Amino acid sequence: MKRIGMLTSGGDCQALNAAMRGVAKTLFNCLEEVEIYGFLDGYRGLIYGNFKMLNSRDFSGILTKGGTILGSSRTPFKTIQDPDENGIDRVEAMKHNYYKLKLDCMVILGGNGTHKTANLLREEGLNIITLPKTIDNDLYGTDMTFGFQSAVNIATEAIDCIHTTAASHGRVFIIEVMGHKVGWLTLNAGIAGGADIILIPEIPYDINKVVESIQRRNKAGSRFTILAVAEGAISKEDAALSKKEYKEKLKNNPYPSVSYEIAAAIQEKAGQEVRVTVPGHTQRGGSPCAYDRVFASRLGSEAAKLIMDDDYGYMVGIKNREIIKVPLAEVAGKLKMVAPDATIVQEAKMLGISFGD
Ligand code: F6P
Repeated sequence: MKRIGMLTSGGDCQALNAAMRGVAKTLFNCLEEVEIYGFLDGYRGLIYGNFKMLNSRDFSGILTKGGTILGSSRTPFKTIQDPDENGIDRVEAMKHNYYKLKLDCMVILGGNGTHKTANLLREEGLNIITLPKTIDNDLYGTDMTFGFQSAVNIATEAIDCIHTTAASHGRVFIIEVMGHKVGWLTLNAGIAGGADIILIPEIPYDINKVVESIQRRNKAGSRFTILAVAEGAISKEDAALSKKEYKEKLKNNPYPSVSYEIAAAIQEKAGQEVRVTVPGHTQRGGSPCAYDRVFASRLGSEAAKLIMDDDYGYMVGIKNREIIKVPLAEVAGKLKMVAPDATIVQEAKMLGISFGD
């Protein structure tokens, strides 16, 4: 008999349901008796004891569904150890609900912040297994997170659509891609969509170099230029500022996001018409792509195996195409960024893509 808790925390992404189904199907198939408790809206459900018991039917028909059947919420790690507005100790409350239900393990699906809290719960003595979700692909310890490939497909389609209209009008177009503080999504969608310029946080850009690239294309007879810009892209000048100075600058910044700032600079320096497209949360929505369905199902199945072996305290990830388990203590609090000299960046540069550096 196993009693399992499950929750999905942080920004949602495609294949969360596929991953939970992978865990549940494996447990229902391989064990005589299983009880699965789904906590609603992320850690909030575990804190306030808001859960529902799930049976095998609840996991049926959800492989292809985006979002999460459990709901999600952001519960920032930096305040998780502070009491809530009613003075409730949230960490103690989570432990209390875990023990009250006599759980053998919590399966937690989430990204960076989620993993910090998951590791804290492990340190507090709970049995934890995590699964790496995020469209940002910035989780340390795994080559890939589920949701990422689906988001790459959506961002790529956005760039594809912009290509045709950009060509008709001979304009400069910026497509702003999600990814938080890292450039994986922009880099991959940018290459897949044939962007001419890719700007990512890990490679601060020089606006003059960006303008030069556009002008070079104009001279060579190209009627349009497409920029894939990460939402976290940053100029060389801004990257040189201290955190405090940068925050101060942002306070007085009239632009809704970095793409609009870049657009205004290009317009001023190159005198060219620029349009900005922000696909935003569409990148996290819709049905998971085939890769993510397979990947999340495999991760779920391997997580279930760890549970059956009573082998806890790990994130299940992938390295060199093999599914692996990584100690949670190694994962929590670390970011996986694009190395500015990574081979994929070098290859993109050899293809003629400018990074504005
Ligand atoms: O972490 C996933 C992500 O979509 C990031 O790419 C983005 O910066 C952030 O979440 C958006 O967060 P929210 O949905 O809270 O606006």
